Amino acid sequence: MPRIKIAPSILSANLKKVNEEIKEVEKYSDLIHVDIMDGIFVPPTTIDAKFVKKIKTKVPLDVHLMVHEPSHSYIKEFIDAGAPSITIHEEACKNPAEQINFIRRNNAKAAISIKPNTPIEKIKNYLGMVDMVLVMTVEPGWAGQKFIDSTMLKVRELRKLKRNIDIEVDGGINPYTARIAFEAGANVFVAGSAIFGKKERVAAIKEILKGLK
Ligand code: DX5
Ligand code: ZN
Repeated sequence: MPRIKIAPSILSANLKKVNEEIKEVEKYSDLIHVDIMDGIFVPPTTIDAKFVKKIKTKVPLDVHLMVHEPSHSYIKEFIDAGAPSITIHEEACKNPAEQINFIRRNNAKAAISIKPNTPIEKIKNYLGMVDMVLVMTVEPGWAGQKFIDSTMLKVRELRKLKRNIDIEVDGGINPYTARIAFEAGANVFVAGSAIFGKKERVAAIKEILKGLK
């Protein structure tokens, strides 16, 4: 299995001082997860590429586009803003392969995500093209929701199919559910409220890491 990676999600951080907030967790983070919501694919809207450009960190940004049919120029804005990795949603794109190719042609890593009710059959054709699969463990759109256990069947199946790919889980991840996802085969752990929602963020990360051995 690939290396364990921790990806704090800034959705739960204080965005008025986002660089300070990131600084606090930098040393213990492998990725900084950045949620982009368009108000269409998911009801809320969040930050844009202009905001992403202002994020200053040496930790690679992991941009999760919860966006309906993102255009090439829209995707490119995030890559130009400094994001080395872009995740699109299978359900949001008519032609995911074409989007994945576009991201890779622009020298970024590409990932594909599926919502809790989307079967992995929908992404089987793309598994050879992506660096990472994001299995949503809640319905996308909000932080602080409850982890959906049944999504672990997909993580298990994916890990059987692809020993070396990064499998990311996102939604309701805490020390307890991270362990469950780890046992199913996930190796990239996004956590919003379980890290930035806590006072002691480094201690919160260490608590998650404890179970991932
Ligand atoms: C939800 C976002 C998540 C969110 C997770 O749609 O994709 O990245 O920040 O938040 P928690 O960890 O609180 O469930
Ligand atoms: Zn996310």
